[in-house]
Amino acid sequence: MARHERLHYLKKITALPKRDIAIIQDPLSAFNFDDANRMIENAIGMLMLPLGIATDFMVNSREYLVPMAIEEPSVIAAASKAAKIAKRSGGFTAEADKSLMIGQVQLLPLHTPKEIAKQKILSNKNELLHIANSKSRYTIAKDLEVRELQDKSQNNMGEMLIVELIIDTQDSMGANVINTMCETIAPKVEELTGGSVILRILSNYATRRLVRCKAIFAKNELGGEHIVERILYAYAFAYSDIHRAVTHNKGIMNGIDAAALATGQDLRAIEAGAHAYAARDGTYRSLTKWYKTKEGDLAGEIELPVAVGIVGGVVSVHPMAKIALKILGVKTSQELAMILAAAGLAQNLAAIRALASEGIQKGHMKLHARNIAVMAGAKGDLIDSVARRISDENNINIDRAKDILSLLKKPEREAKIT
Ligand code: MEV
Repeated sequence: MARHERLHYLKKITALPKRDIAIIQDPLSAFNFDDANRMIENAIGMLMLPLGIATDFMVNSREYLVPMAIEEPSVIAAASKAAKIAKRSGGFTAEADKSLMIGQVQLLPLHTPKEIAKQKILSNKNELLHIANSKSRYTIAKDLEVRELQDKSQNNMGEMLIVELIIDTQDSMGANVINTMCETIAPKVEELTGGSVILRILSNYATRRLVRCKAIFAKNELGGEHIVERILYAYAFAYSDIHRAVTHNKGIMNGIDAAALATGQDLRAIEAGAHAYAARDGTYRSLTKWYKTKEGDLAGEIELPVAVGIVGGVVSVHPMAKIALKILGVKTSQELAMILAAAGLAQNLAAIRALASEGIQKGHMKLHARNIAVMAGAKGDLIDSVARRISDENNINIDRAKDILSLLKKPEREAKIT
């Protein structure tokens, strides 16, 4: 489709108002330098990224158009292709935990024995929760736990207590409220124990906010039984070797990050949590799991923490993030987390299928050819002409692109291109 056809389709499917379509076409009309300048410090401009739509995502029997913001060619095509294959076998099935986050308060018990300090905190749990909850009506501190921790660094700083608030952030990511709650209970924790609080901050290792997603990919859609077998070897490699696992998981994050960025999420938080979870058994491994069904098809599963929100933070101020959420049509943060997990699983399948068969460079370079043409200096219509030519010649590199460009600029010499 041409761009106007894509937008027309989007409007038809999602009932986006005209104003939103106008913003997609001209983002600066809704978000300008003054907005950017309010958002960060020392702003000098704005970085633009392409925004596209991954298609055919059937998650829990509902079809989604998934907005993705990404600079890398082939991610959206690959995710859509994998989602289409999954759709033929019923799509993705996903579930998400409640939005439970952990807020941490680091306490040095000082002169009070740690068992007594711990007891003091636990016996005043209700009051501490009450203090925490005085800061918010929407986000709720549900529980409080205390852990003992011994410094394992070279500095031997000794023992400490970690007071953990378990907080239901509902449809928000929750970072700010969690941090506020931790800071609010800190003086009371010190008063109760005679200790000294050092840090008061959320944990981005959101292990109580996991999302799980699975799908079946029919062997015939993947290229036959031997491709399924080869994909299982790809998974064996990623499960068993950290150097491969990091790249395998990078491919998963291509899908998750692109959709998370489009919807205004904190990518660094998602990334940090995901990679820590990949190492939960002490060794960094694949975030996905792949196996053969008894029919010989390929089954894939992913589980990871995904702390995202559909209210608060950037989501409430960035017009494009708001529009991206409208395109998705999600009603809860859990629903968004499930779609991100599906995007990660789809992206992983597409990558390992290509890697285990023809390799990724053929498809990737074809999609990258237009960037190469631009790098070679092509402008306007010449971009597609140069890209097509280097792609047809299977010679996708900048030197060849430059040669072709200079010849195309001199039409009389075009016939001489070999
Ligand atoms: C490239 O952005 C992502 C891949 O390297 C992922 C993988 O190797 O599985 C293709």
